[in-house]
Amino acid sequence: MITIAIDGHSSCGKSTMAKNLAKELGYVYIDTGAMYRSVTYYAMLNGMIDAEGNIDTERLKAEMPNINISFKFNPNTGRPDTYLNGTCVEDKIRTLEVSNHVSPIATLGFVREAMVAQQREMGKAKGVILDGRDIGTVVFPDAELKIFVTASAEIRAQRRYDELTAKGEVCEYDAILKNVQERDYIDSHREISPLTQAEDAIVLDNSNMTISEQQEWLLKLTKEVVSASE
Ligand code: DC
Repeated sequence: MITIAIDGHSSCGKSTMAKNLAKELGYVYIDTGAMYRSVTYYAMLNGMIDAEGNIDTERLKAEMPNINISFKFNPNTGRPDTYLNGTCVEDKIRTLEVSNHVSPIATLGFVREAMVAQQREMGKAKGVILDGRDIGTVVFPDAELKIFVTASAEIRAQRRYDELTAKGEVCEYDAILKNVQERDYIDSHREISPLTQAEDAIVLDNSNMTISEQQEWLLKLTKEVVSASE
């Protein structure tokens, strides 16, 4: 059993890769982006983000001990659903509104500290796959396998547009592209744990790959790393 870290830009299919690989290997999948999204949703719900997007950081900091995030496997979707204080928030955290506010929330040191501690606790038993931005660099720098995933911003925006419209959400491609580009910028330029490729990560640019092609590539690579670690 090993620890697998999948990092990379937003909307480049990390969670699909991680979810499918976890199923193949019988590993536990932890979607760390869902954790930052849940904190964002909690802040929105409790009036801590105003119309201009300003965050009441003092209140949020005080509320951190009251924000409990957990995952429960959903056999219908084959992936874990995210729970915030015992309530399933899986759909609520995937909206464009949450996407628009999540990057500034993820820059806050006290939020990151709390999430990293929870992630280390959840992943300490090995046999886990985590996806995020700082897994291979900060959360589990000793992970046996690290993948850094990327694709062009336009392709990622198109994928997210297709995903949201399939769910019946009304959205515009241009607004999504802008959101993808803004999040790339904030995620890569923040002071604490910016999105960077770990030195020992293997890069996967999946701009022109199908999901099954990338799955095949990943499974082959994982099997090699697992058998080398035995
Ligand atoms: O992967 P995602 O789009 O659901 O992530 C949502 C946001 O959370 C994204 O803007 C970056 C942030 N994030 C982070 O800073 N660190 C992580 N480990 C995972 C996500």
